[in-house]
Parts: sequence; structure tokens; C-alpha cells
Amino acid sequence: MNKKSVTTPIQLESDTNITPRRGQWAKANLGPQSIEAIDNDAKLFLHQSVSTPCLSAVVKAEGAWIEDIEGRRYLDFHGNNVHHIGYGHPRLKQAIARQMDELPFAPRRFACHPATELAQKLVDISPGNLSKVLFTTGGSDAIEVALKLARASTGRHKTVSFWDAFHGAGFGAASIGGEQLFRSHAIGPLLSGSEHVAPFACYRCPYGYPEKDGKPDLELCKLTCANMVRYVLEKEGDVAAVIAEPARAVPYIPPPGFWQEIRKACNDHGALLIFDEIPTGLGKTGAMFACDHDQVEPDILVMGKALGGGIIPLAAVLAQPELDIAGDYAFGHYTHEKNPVSARAGLTTIEIIEDENLVENAATLGDWAIGQLNEIKQRNKVIGSIRGRGFLIGVELVQSDEGKEPAIDLAEDVLYRCLDNGLSFKTTMGNTLTLTPPLITDYKQMEFALQTIEEAIIASSKAMGLQ
Ligand SMILES: Cc1ncc(COP(=O)(O)O)c(C=O)c1O
Repeated sequence: MNKKSVTTPIQLESDTNITPRRGQWAKANLGPQSIEAIDNDAKLFLHQSVSTPCLSAVVKAEGAWIEDIEGRRYLDFHGNNVHHIGYGHPRLKQAIARQMDELPFAPRRFACHPATELAQKLVDISPGNLSKVLFTTGGSDAIEVALKLARASTGRHKTVSFWDAFHGAGFGAASIGGEQLFRSHAIGPLLSGSEHVAPFACYRCPYGYPEKDGKPDLELCKLTCANMVRYVLEKEGDVAAVIAEPARAVPYIPPPGFWQEIRKACNDHGALLIFDEIPTGLGKTGAMFACDHDQVEPDILVMGKALGGGIIPLAAVLAQPELDIAGDYAFGHYTHEKNPVSARAGLTTIEIIEDENLVENAATLGDWAIGQLNEIKQRNKVIGSIRGRGFLIGVELVQSDEGKEPAIDLAEDVLYRCLDNGLSFKTTMGNTLTLTPPLITDYKQMEFALQTIEEAIIASSKAMGLQ
């Protein structure tokens, strides 16, 4: 390649993944086989923040557990939110194998039973009147479809979305996303008309309102965060859609009444409401969809991740029937749009979630875990906030309970201590331990996770002089 055609890389070799603490962890924990696997990965894959270079290398994923090359097992409370039914569920593997024998592929212009059965199932379990479906192979693609559908059906192109949100990797998704990492600097101009407002984030309210007893003080704030969306819709006057995660994966749970207000504002200003339920759909928050908690029905709902059962990449867009107005165009048209094996995986995954009462498990065990974490918070002043719903749980670490200064270093230390003790999760916003267990997690595993986290918080905060 002509070297001159390459512009100066933006932090291309900065390896932001490799912090000094991660380096130390790797030194202590990775043997020659792991190092070879990671080096090979780093040699072959384009480097990108938060993926390559990798932390370690896995060789097994089963149930709620992953195992690395060193034979070390981790209870996986991260799983990229794909592992609702656990990794490699035997019933799913059998259903996929059977489907591969019966009908391994269907060219798009042919209907096939698994695809229509899955579409019908999604219509049955989704809120309200969402009844037109399109499948894609990944969440980002499904977001693009949703954006196109909103444009076509409203004749408008603008969107309102939230800072700090993530909606995927495509240009549309990056435009509506609110994280610098995915939208700023290197990639150039984004979609015009992508307006952003501050998100609900009651513990760190962007408008400066304090919480009262760990809850939003609605008397005081009067849902300023929702009113701002109405304000922008009114000022612009021609917004196609508001798009958001109904429960933020960071995580943040909406203040009561938030989504009702947004729904009303959308109706008043002719904008659609699109819910991105890619990580939260299918039971993560203890309801089939996160928006079920708020009893608000979107015009378009996007789901993905766990839909393929943690084996097959699959996502879906569900829309109100009156949005089916673009029959002369093609907004999806993905090669694997009606892949019978993917569809079978989706259908079986939902059947497993229903038959094993996994949504109920996330609701009850999640409630219990959040209660336990609140007790742990009483004992540890470096925990600033516990929040979540079902199996979407955040533990935000701060320097002390007097101020809210984020304890980013502490969170990283806790993460590596937990990895040492067999628990994997991720940190978000730098200082929030974010727990997204699979829906199959049982009481004993949850107890182990909470104990591991508390021990790590105590050890790390002592070591840093914060307790
Ligand atoms: C809220 C949200 N939207 C969209 C996406 C993108 O999905 P995918 O990675 O399948 O493209 C993600 C992925 O993490 C997500 O969390």
C-alpha cells in the first residue's frame, strides 16, 4: 500500500486497553500459551479500544462460566449480554443441529417456517401492537434499519438521542450514540440532524439536582431531563424520532414517569419513539422488555444480543403496523435476513427463557442481590450508589461517601481482584462495576459473586487508603 495514503493515526498504537494494572495482572496470570494466543490475536486483528489487544484467551464457555487457556474459570457477569440462557444450552444446540439438517439456509425471496415462527413469537411477547418485523445479523444493523424506517415513515430525518448512550458501530448508530470513543475524532462527519440531550442519570444528575434518600427528588427536579427532550422536539419541530435505551446499560434506571413524559412529548410533536433493547430485551431487567416496567409502548423496538442464544448473531426490529410503508424500498435486505438456523436459535432461546422462568429469576434474584448490595454499601463508604433492575446492576465506586469523586483506579483494582478470584464483569463510566449475570444464575452463584465483590472492595480500598 502507498504509505502516503495513510494519514497520521489517531492513537493507533496507544493500546488504551493495556493499563499498568492490566499489564501487572497479565504478568501474574498469563502463561506462554495465553501470551501466544493474545499476541497472535493482536498481530492479526485491527487494534481497537476495548477489544484487541485482549485480556486473556478463552477455550470454553458453558452455562454461566467461561474458562481460559490456563484452566482458570470465571463466573461471567458480563457476557456482552448475550448469555441470558447460559453458554451452550444443550436444548439450543440440539435445535440448531436439527435445523441444520432440515433446512440450513433460505434465500431471502423464499419464506421459511422458522423465520415466520420467530417473527410471530416476537410479536406475541413484545409490548402493545408491535407487529411488523425485520431481522438483521447484529444490533448495529438493526439500529440502522430502525433509523431508516423512522425517516421514511415520518418524512423527517432528525433524531434526538442521549449523550453517553451506545447504539452500535454503524454510521447511523455512531451518530446517535453519545460516547466520544465511537463518534469523535477519527471517523469524520456523522449524520446531520442527530441532536443529543443529557440523559437521565439521577445519582449524577446532569442538571445538578440532588437525590433524596438515594432516589430522584421529583418535587425538586420536575423531570427536567424529560422536559429537555420536549423542549428540543418543540424547537426543532421536525424530529423523526427519539431513540434511547429504556434502561441505560451503564446502568441507570429511568426516574418514575420519565418515559410517559417522553411518550407524550413524541406524540405531541409527531416524533416516533424508538427503544433500543439490544442488551436489556428478553428478560435482563426482570421483565421481558425493560420498557414493560414503565408501561410505555415504543413505535419501534430493537433487540439483539441474547436473541441468538449466545451462539448465533441475530437481531430484530419490531414496528407498529402503520410504519409498514416502504414496500417499494429495501431497508434491511441482509443476506441472512431469514436464515432458518438463526431463526430457530431465536425461537428456541425464547422458549427456553419462558420454560425455565428465567425472567422471573432475574426479577427475584436481582431484587435480592440489589438488597444485599445496599447492605454492603452501608459497610463500605467507597460505594456511592447501587442501582439497577433485575440482572442489570451497577455498583458505583467513589473516593468517599462525603463527595462523589469517581474512584476509577479503585474500580479497576477491584475488577482485577475479582478476576483473580473467578468473577468476570466490566466497569462502565470508569468507576461503576457493572454486573449483567446470565438469567440462569442461581442463588449460590449470586452469593459467591457478591462476596467476591465485597472482599475485593475491602482489600482494594484498604490498599489505597480509602476505608
Ligand atoms: C444499547 C446497545 N445498542 C446497540 C448495540 C450494538 O449491537 P451489536 O454489537 O450487536 O452491533 C449494543 C452493543 O453492545 C448495545 O449495548
